[in-house]
Amino acid sequence: MRRKVIAGNWKMNMLPNEAIDFINNLSPLVKNSKNEVIICVPFTDLFYTLLTVQETNIHVGAQNMHWEEKGAYTGEVSGQMLKSINTEYVIIGHSERRQYFGETDETVNLKIKSALKNGLKPIICVGETLEQREQGLTIEVITSQINKALSGLTTQDLSNTIIAYEPIWAIGTGKTATKEDANESIKSIRQEILKSFGTDDITILYGGSVNDKNAKELFTMSDIDGGLVGGASLNAETFSKIVNFD
Ligand code: 13P
Repeated sequence: MRRKVIAGNWKMNMLPNEAIDFINNLSPLVKNSKNEVIICVPFTDLFYTLLTVQETNIHVGAQNMHWEEKGAYTGEVSGQMLKSINTEYVIIGHSERRQYFGETDETVNLKIKSALKNGLKPIICVGETLEQREQGLTIEVITSQINKALSGLTTQDLSNTIIAYEPIWAIGTGKTATKEDANESIKSIRQEILKSFGTDDITILYGGSVNDKNAKELFTMSDIDGGLVGGASLNAETFSKIVNFD
């Protein structure tokens, strides 16, 4: 279902005591927001964060998972494990995982299916490199990533799924996509989903150097439903301004 969502991705930052302080600082600042607030935290923060957000309107996600439920996969964490402590969301296919940890469209699809089967809501990341953008391949790349990611899903699954369009060249660089370019890419993702599923009623976020200054102009575009925020989600006050952009 389309709704306004602001999700933070802490990446590999924040110790448990910092996570607890952050939530305690953030919760009064966002308690009246009608936008959904999600914080995606490292595995070691999950349990503490989940306990601290009780009685608040803050939702919690992980940043990765394995697609198998259990087994000889040293160092991995499964969807079933995340669900067992009441994790609600999980980021899947972030470009940093594709780039540094060998994530492919195939493993992304396996993880999404496993997340949904285990009652987790995936936040699926897609986005083009600078080279692909310069070659005019943006729409081709992202629609291909979307089709492979969503392969085998049902329309019902879509209502528990969020997409994040994150152009790789905009991540952590301070270079935001223009609001028109971001909207155009997200519109093309929506059209592709409409073709495959007969509905485009799905929440699609923009990510890549979102901050408290540019959030409003991006999030009020016709096809952009909010943001996936990296660096600017590490400070509770800054992040609250993004959540309260409207
Ligand atoms: P930045 O907001 O730091 O550019 O990171 C975006 C991102 O990768 C969120 O998943």
